[in-house]
Amino acid sequence: MTKANIAAVILAAGKGTRMKSACPKVLHPIAGQPMVRHLLSTVERLNPARIAVVIGPDMNDVAAAVAPHPAITQHEQLGTAHAALAAIDTLRGFAGDVLVLYADSPLITQESLERLLAVRRAPPYPAVVVLGFRPADPAEYGRLVIKADGALERIVEFRDANAGERAITLCNSGVMSFDGARIASLLGRIGNSNAKKEYYLTDAVGLARAEGLACAYVEAPTEELLGINSRAELAAAEATVQRKLRAHAMANGASMTAPETVWLSHDTRLGQDVSIGPNVVFGPGVVVADHVEIRAFCHIEGAHIESGAVIGPFARLRPGAAIGENAHIGNFVEVKNAKIGEGAKANHLTYLGDARVGAGANVGAGTITCNYDGFSKYETDIGAGAFIGSNAALVAPVKIGRGAIVGAGSVITRDVAPDALALERARQGEVPNWAANFRAQKEAESAGKESAKKKTKRDSRSR
Ligand code: UD1
Ligand code: MG
Repeated sequence: MTKANIAAVILAAGKGTRMKSACPKVLHPIAGQPMVRHLLSTVERLNPARIAVVIGPDMNDVAAAVAPHPAITQHEQLGTAHAALAAIDTLRGFAGDVLVLYADSPLITQESLERLLAVRRAPPYPAVVVLGFRPADPAEYGRLVIKADGALERIVEFRDANAGERAITLCNSGVMSFDGARIASLLGRIGNSNAKKEYYLTDAVGLARAEGLACAYVEAPTEELLGINSRAELAAAEATVQRKLRAHAMANGASMTAPETVWLSHDTRLGQDVSIGPNVVFGPGVVVADHVEIRAFCHIEGAHIESGAVIGPFARLRPGAAIGENAHIGNFVEVKNAKIGEGAKANHLTYLGDARVGAGANVGAGTITCNYDGFSKYETDIGAGAFIGSNAALVAPVKIGRGAIVGAGSVITRDVAPDALALERARQGEVPNWAANFRAQKEAESAGKESAKKKTKRDSRSR
């Protein structure tokens, strides 16, 4: 596919002090994915010729998260214009549209970016187009100052705004599209004489207008443009993304009894006629085929579930769980790195880790695969049609043959042959009538004590 005549610069160098976190702000996850990756995947869909991400010093983890896109270091955080300038070298010779985006506003949609670009490419070919929005609380967002003819005149930052300007409800989202032929000269002339002594990217609009260049704005829905500067705003963004993911899953044929209690990941894949009960959490990497039932209170991460399987209630599937067709994983069952065959069942209180359970096998309540000796992990292989009795400990590495039966309570340390019975527990002893004799003796003892007590009471009264 030929690349579009677009370059994108994503600003992510800010310290994010309002998050009060050791983790760079843009790596905080939304729906199981760092916020900067949400923005990148939207921008990537525009197929830009170049994408550059501006990061701060010591942000190697951010550079790794944005790879293969180049990360450019802004050595000092002197403001958003200063940050965009750091990337100017990567734009040299580029005369298309330059999108500048803030990594802390990651929920922008492709449609809004396309509307922004369309305005830039139509007469009067504005030098800068800004995406504006009208949040319920304009708080400390920059305000868009619009002339009587409807054109964008300048952006005023909250701290520098007078009372009249603060009353403006149209806010700056931070998303801008520049004429690539002019961006370098506009950014190069931005100064820092303002309340924060920072180089504001937003000043590009006033400078362009002073030169007689046209500027414009496009409005987009508020929920796409909320900036994330604090933990509370992060939680609000999570809620927005979850609403979208749930709506998308339901539109594709999954049903949810209580959608507001189901937590999805950015990459959760749900088939048709999947039914999900209340309070189910999907971590990253889950693929669910058609006709699967996931009952209430399950936690599922890195798992593949084949068609017709029934999971939960209260099941935990961890990375590498592969649940076969029509298999059943019931309450308080944990599965990790284990392949559960077609129609196999583990319905109660079980741990299956580093294991293979053959088709149609039945794993009884309380079965544990003992897969770890404190140093290494070992595998358990349960053959097709095998039956593991309740409360069995299968000490790996161990193989239970096809169709074998393991007696309840056994600790299995050696391989079991196909169709054999393996039993590993003390032989049961029995003493006839012992319980009845025991009760009779205890009752006689307590009757003797009672009558002795009464006699002492009588004696003390008659004295
Ligand atoms: C900015 C805008 C404001 C807008 C708001 C929208 C400016 C001056 N103000 O304010 O008009 O309403 O976003 O959310 O642009 N960054 C750097 N290097 C820096 C400073 C910031 O890379 O030196 C990055 C940050 O990592 C962040 C983005 O730029 O991703 C915005 O910075 P932030 O400090 O959050 O700006 P706001 O105060 O939110
Ligand atoms: Mg911000």
